[in-house]
Amino acid sequence: DPGLPLDMIIFGGMGDLAARKLLPALYMAHLHGNLPHGTRIISTGRQELGREGYLAFVEEKSRAFISAENFADDAWQSFLRLIDYVRLDVQQDDLAALAQASRGGAERVFYLATAPALFTTICDKLAAAGLVDRQARVVLEKPLGRDLASAVEINEAVGRHFAESQIYRIDHYLGKETVQNLMVLRFGNSILEPLWRAPNISSVQITVAEEVGVGSRAGFYDSTGAMRDMVQNHLLQLLCIVAMEPPSSLAPDAVRDEKLKVLRALRRFNLGTIARDTVRGQYRRGVAGNQEVPGYPEEPNVPAGSGTETFVALRTYVDTWRWSKVPFYLRTGKRMGRRSSKIVVEFANPPFSLFPEQSPGGVANRLVIELQPEEAIKLQVMAKEPGSGMHMQQVALNLDLQSAFSQRRAEAYERLLIDVVRGRLTHFMRRDELEAAWEWVEPIIDGWGALGEPPRPYAAGTWGPPESFALLARDGYSWFE
Ligand code: BG6
Repeated sequence: DPGLPLDMIIFGGMGDLAARKLLPALYMAHLHGNLPHGTRIISTGRQELGREGYLAFVEEKSRAFISAENFADDAWQSFLRLIDYVRLDVQQDDLAALAQASRGGAERVFYLATAPALFTTICDKLAAAGLVDRQARVVLEKPLGRDLASAVEINEAVGRHFAESQIYRIDHYLGKETVQNLMVLRFGNSILEPLWRAPNISSVQITVAEEVGVGSRAGFYDSTGAMRDMVQNHLLQLLCIVAMEPPSSLAPDAVRDEKLKVLRALRRFNLGTIARDTVRGQYRRGVAGNQEVPGYPEEPNVPAGSGTETFVALRTYVDTWRWSKVPFYLRTGKRMGRRSSKIVVEFANPPFSLFPEQSPGGVANRLVIELQPEEAIKLQVMAKEPGSGMHMQQVALNLDLQSAFSQRRAEAYERLLIDVVRGRLTHFMRRDELEAAWEWVEPIIDGWGALGEPPRPYAAGTWGPPESFALLARDGYSWFE
């Protein structure tokens, strides 16, 4: 409601996420006039800091995440004036202090950037303090559970006080410009959709490769692993957007219904297919960014003999008419060759080789959607090499989105926060989507446990263990670099 002032209340206001992502995103939204007039940001944390102390924290921790070109001193000062701090130990205290700090009649957004173990308590106490009304919205940060049961528990607990239409489950990949663009590419054009199915498409690859290692996050990461950290959410969401049927509108439920159908159509794994079609890896000492880096077992706070995977590759299928027999290869890892996320759609080769070079194993046409670090869409086609013979070569029709549009590109968190402020749910996960994703993921993780094989080692700075390449080679494909 544009008439009401907004109170953005952050639980976990001294956490890593708040410092690195949320506060910089809110600053950018403020800088560009995208926060409603009269917005206030109320951060909560356990430390006895006072407002001045908290502002010093923001100055020290968040400012570094705002690039010089986006920094403006007067906007920064006016941004700091929006911020308040309430000391709170949500496990011990009631929320009276918060209720006092938040204005009566304000529209409230509660951003739960804490460990999910606190979500139930926070929601119960928000309700007890009378802070949850029909305007209120709650934003839930991942990890949303570590299996189906814990995800259901979180959903139940939050659902006791908030209607589904008030709940914003963040998957920041859905806020990325190129991910949103994928919807436009598919459904804003007519030339792709008729081809967008079996047997015209022969395979799909989705890679989210990171150059960074686990850093200082092993405390969280070691009990999580790449499957829960990346595949369950980000990669499956990308797969959904690639595979979904055209929704009838952009209304949140129209889009989310279609994504849910994809998740439900994902082929279930059993021990046999887990052993054959999934690969777990863990990085070892190697070279990343020209620097010698430690292996996962040597990272701070990794328990001795940890069997946590930092890499996953798998083959799966969407068992629908459209995608019958089309393999979807997913891959994600830390400490890989370089940061590179892309979706590669491979089209079936011409049914007959007219030209001698049409190598039987080669792929003539690919649509490559690069998500990061570059944002580009490339369509690979065969073209004739100049000269007297009929020699072919692969060339790319190349759309560089960064140079096609001169506008500023907002970070995922900024875009999603503005969606929350404006009450737009389309790019957030619905309860049943989250649970369907866990239903598919959990048996794989359990199966790995039952099979008891440690993850395969790979050197930092490489593209994962050899088994990942073998997974595709077996089908006559290879990861597209
Ligand atoms: C987060 C994961 O959700 O996504 C991190 O918890 C990961 O482990 C990050 O590094 C990757 O996000 P991005 O936007 O850098 O690709």
